[in-house]
Amino acid sequence: MPTRLRVLGFAGSLRKGSYNRALLNTAVELAPDTMEFIIFDLASIPFYNQDVEDHEDPASVTAFKRAIAESDALLICTPEYNYSIPGVLKNALDWASRSAKTTPLQGKPVAVMGASTGGFGTARCQMALQNLFAACGMHPLNSHRVLIAHAEEKFDESGRLIDTATRRIVKESLTALAEWTLILQRGKTSVQKV
Ligand SMILES: Cc1cc2nc3c(=O)[nH]c(=O)nc-3n(C[C@H](O)[C@H](O)[C@H](O)COP(=O)(O)O)c2cc1C
Repeated sequence: MPTRLRVLGFAGSLRKGSYNRALLNTAVELAPDTMEFIIFDLASIPFYNQDVEDHEDPASVTAFKRAIAESDALLICTPEYNYSIPGVLKNALDWASRSAKTTPLQGKPVAVMGASTGGFGTARCQMALQNLFAACGMHPLNSHRVLIAHAEEKFDESGRLIDTATRRIVKESLTALAEWTLILQRGKTSVQKV
C-alpha cells in the first residue's frame, strides 16, 4: 500500500470557539484515505525576535519547523484580521521562514481555507498570504480556495460544519491538495533523475 501523504494543519486563531479550528477539524474528518493529518497548535510560538533566533530557536519553534519539514504539505485554516493575516499566523510563518537558506517552507505545497463572520470569507487574508508564499518559495494550491463567509450560519454550536455545499467544497479542496502534492513530488523525482 502506498504511504499516505502527511499534511500538517494549523489554525490562525487561538480562540477556544474558533470557526477556523472547527474548519481544521472538519478537514481532518473529510480528508481522503490517502492523507493523514498532524495538527500543530500555534499558541506555543513566542513573538519573533532575531536576538532570540541568533542565540537559539525556542523549543516550540524547533518543533514547528520539524513538523513542517516532516510533512508533505501544509493546510492553513485562518481568519482574516483587518483585511490581512492574523498576527499569530504571520508570526509563526516568520519563524518558520528562517533562515532563508534552510527554511522548511521552501518548496512546500500549501492549501488555505478560511472562515470569517464577514462577507468575503477571508479573501483578502488569502491574497496577502500569496505574497508570503512567494517570499518563502512555497507552492500554493491556487485552483481550490475555501472561503467561508458568515461562518456563524455555516457551523453549529458544537463547531460542526453543517452547510452541505461547504462540506463538499472542503472535501474537493483536500482531494486537489493531494493531487497537487503528488504532482510536485513527481516533478522533484524527475528533476533528480536528470
Ligand atoms: C482583530 C480582528 C479583526 C477582524 N477583521 C476582520 C476582517 O478584516 N474581515 C472579516 O471578514 N472579519 C474580521 N474579523 C471578524 C472575524 O472574521 C471573526 O472574529 C472570526 O470569528 C474569527 O475567526 P475564528 O472564529 O477562527 O476566531 C476580525 C476579528 C478580529 C478579532
